[in-house]
Amino acid sequence: MRMYDIIAKKRDGGTLTREELAFAVNGYVAGTVPDYQMSALLMAIYLRGMADAETAALTEVMARSGEMVDLSAIAGIKVDKHSTGGVGDKTTLVIAPVVAACGVKIAKMSGRGLGHTGGTIDKMEAVPGTRTSLTQEEFFRQVNEIGIAVIGQSGQIAVADKKMYALRDVTATVGCIPLIASSIMSKKLAAGSDAILLDVTMGDGAFMKTLDDAIELARQMVAIGTAHGRKVAALITDMDKPLGRSIGNALEVAESMAVLQGKGPADLTEVCLQLAANMLMLAGKGDEAACRAMAQRVLADGSAFAKCRQMFAAQGGDVACLDDPGRFRKAKYSHDVTAAQAGYIVKNDVEKIGNASVLLGAGRLTKEDAIDFAAGIIMHKKLGDAVRPGDAICTLYADDPALFPAAEEMYRGGLVIGAEQPALPPLVYARVTPGGVERF
Ligand code: URA
Repeated sequence: MRMYDIIAKKRDGGTLTREELAFAVNGYVAGTVPDYQMSALLMAIYLRGMADAETAALTEVMARSGEMVDLSAIAGIKVDKHSTGGVGDKTTLVIAPVVAACGVKIAKMSGRGLGHTGGTIDKMEAVPGTRTSLTQEEFFRQVNEIGIAVIGQSGQIAVADKKMYALRDVTATVGCIPLIASSIMSKKLAAGSDAILLDVTMGDGAFMKTLDDAIELARQMVAIGTAHGRKVAALITDMDKPLGRSIGNALEVAESMAVLQGKGPADLTEVCLQLAANMLMLAGKGDEAACRAMAQRVLADGSAFAKCRQMFAAQGGDVACLDDPGRFRKAKYSHDVTAAQAGYIVKNDVEKIGNASVLLGAGRLTKEDAIDFAAGIIMHKKLGDAVRPGDAICTLYADDPALFPAAEEMYRGGLVIGAEQPALPPLVYARVTPGGVERF
């Protein structure tokens, strides 16, 4: 078999076999296929696409390129959840404890922030002392004892994806639905859970900008998971505005704890309830109404918050910060971005909001950058809200006031105030299951 022929076959619109895909991917991991040939293949896939069976085979080869976690030492159904990324997207910190408090095991690996989007592991590390790297024995013991552990993804998971993603990033081949689907699902299959809920974000802050693309990505990921014997469903959620009002690691932990204590923002609470209910459905806990009622009950009776405290305590975190977020270290400086005119917020570009928070120190500009956990943004006015001249639209937080002008310029660059109140997008657009697409 020759890599040259595999590239030519895909270039001409052919369908690659599992053997051909394995030759390319395993050769790339082993170093026998060079970057330039893998780049050519990725571009051919980008331009020609892939059939569902081809994407499922690619995903399996990528998953098997690293460690396949065997969670069978943990009794019961294990449910995972994955978001395709967003700004202010702190749902894992809420729904993992909610689902665990309902008796379904969560043995979850999460990621760090990427570009303008945040990541659960960075947020968890904002709680002083929290360990996000456990040995497999510690991880299994914690899930068996308290029903929940969330840790950083091991470097041994889907090693082909790590190498291929880095190459895609510099060859303009990230934005390709079969490549995104196989990248995400290779990690999810390797992580070992029985059921997976996918939160496919859609809007100007997400990879998928249109509903059709988001549904197609969800459909392909559900098909891949189902072909590999997992129970999978996807919700298409809105990312035309950040979830909640807080962006930045400690600020987002504080907001998540407010949701767990029944006093969080309505949009974030509602999305978390829908995601948690769908995870409970995948775990066989009942129909949608029963699962939603279960999730509402553990929020209302405090058991979800207690489960979250238990998880952080088991991983060494200072739970006093969860009880009283006032104990988080605060940024030294704050700065209000104010409205220059009266009207309604008709656009507030989410990618720009995320990039503004990165400029303040809440995310990384390069992989090596350290994060300032206290940095970030609190939004006082969001898409659709009325503003008067001088109103604070948001407050920026940083340890260095010299960071404010660039962050403010970035934030304002995506902000439009107009005379007409815009129609707000729904929080959840659709659900995709192996049975089809339900639009809401
Ligand atoms: N997230 C991933 O893990 N992979 C992609 O290709 C895109 C988003």
